[in-house]
Amino acid sequence: MKAATTRGIFANTSLITRSTQRPTVGVNDVLVEVHASSVNPKDWKLNTIISSLTPKLGALAKINIIGDDLAGVVVEKGAHVSDFAIGDEVYGMDMRLRTAACAEYAVISEKSIAHKPKNMSFAEAASVPLAALTALQAFYLGGVQQGSKVLVIGASGGVGTFAVQIGKAMGAHITGVCSGKNSELVAGLGAEKVIDYTRSDFLQETDDYDVVFDVTAYQSLSSCSSLMAEQGVFISTAGHGKALFNTYRPHFSQGTKTAKAIWVKSRNEDLDKLKTFIEGGLVKAVIDSAFTLDNIQQAYVQSQTGRSKGKVVILVKQ
Ligand SMILES: NC(=O)c1ccc[n+]([C@@H]2O[C@H](COP(=O)([O-])OP(=O)(O)OC[C@H]3O[C@@H](n4cnc5c(N)ncnc54)[C@H](OP(=O)(O)O)[C@@H]3O)[C@@H](O)[C@H]2O)c1
Repeated sequence: MKAATTRGIFANTSLITRSTQRPTVGVNDVLVEVHASSVNPKDWKLNTIISSLTPKLGALAKINIIGDDLAGVVVEKGAHVSDFAIGDEVYGMDMRLRTAACAEYAVISEKSIAHKPKNMSFAEAASVPLAALTALQAFYLGGVQQGSKVLVIGASGGVGTFAVQIGKAMGAHITGVCSGKNSELVAGLGAEKVIDYTRSDFLQETDDYDVVFDVTAYQSLSSCSSLMAEQGVFISTAGHGKALFNTYRPHFSQGTKTAKAIWVKSRNEDLDKLKTFIEGGLVKAVIDSAFTLDNIQQAYVQSQTGRSKGKVVILVKQ
């Protein structure tokens, strides 16, 4: 089968495709014929670097972890798999050092997939798992409920476009922060108010948001404190080391306001919840661009610009 793999090492890593053996299923896994995958910043911040190092690590040389998200069809299943049958259309993500979704076939645990939303193409479904699970689990972490007032900073990217829609589907009032060129997109996804961060310094304002979800990971509880209600929760994606430090550092000096970091997990009950939102017409995919598996390097370059509107997808089977 054809699979994406790395060439080079560390910062000089680029992606190519090569011919390799199909992975074999464990007792709790399924083998998926992958129709589409998608790119998340984690892929080029972490996965490519780990993959580029594994040939140097002897016994671990077989690790290839390019791609967490997948959508496709179950073609084989392990002896203990009970929730899925051969021929089922599924979507999901697995962050263990095992699933390489940017390949014609990928092995994934049955706990990390769900049935694909019926009203989505494979490409759309592959854009959902990691980004939308991050938004959903961040809102669970923040206690978002009917009537919550939520600020999403970074509302136009992969996680942000899902966060706006999922927050609204949960009954929250959403304000999105993005650059002016993306304001219309974010308003169209259901944000009641959109702030153009290139025109106003929203951090200088006073407000009473119950939850501030900082998708960009550029902010901290301190910088957002004036925007938050007394019991407000600041949640960061902590996308880099400084962000993680910033998230927790001010925790002790902001009274009743709290800071948390989200670490997304594969959970099939959450994928089922997203499926319900999607099939109910409450959440849709926003696709920035699509690339074939042979052009995966270009897909990563697009994601690395940090300017994608929604998700970058990889079309594996056409
Ligand atoms: N901890 C976890 O479990 C977890 C899970 C998923 C993602 N993450 C992290 O979350 C971050 C976002 O991921 P993503 O997939 O959404 O990335 P992405 O799709 O690359 O985000 C691109 C978006 O970021 C926006 N943006 C850039 N600078 C901004 C700013 N100063 N203010 C507001 N928006 C800004 C851009 O909008 P404009 O062009 O309009 O500026 C663009 O639409 C990454 O660091 C990723 O590693 C962490």
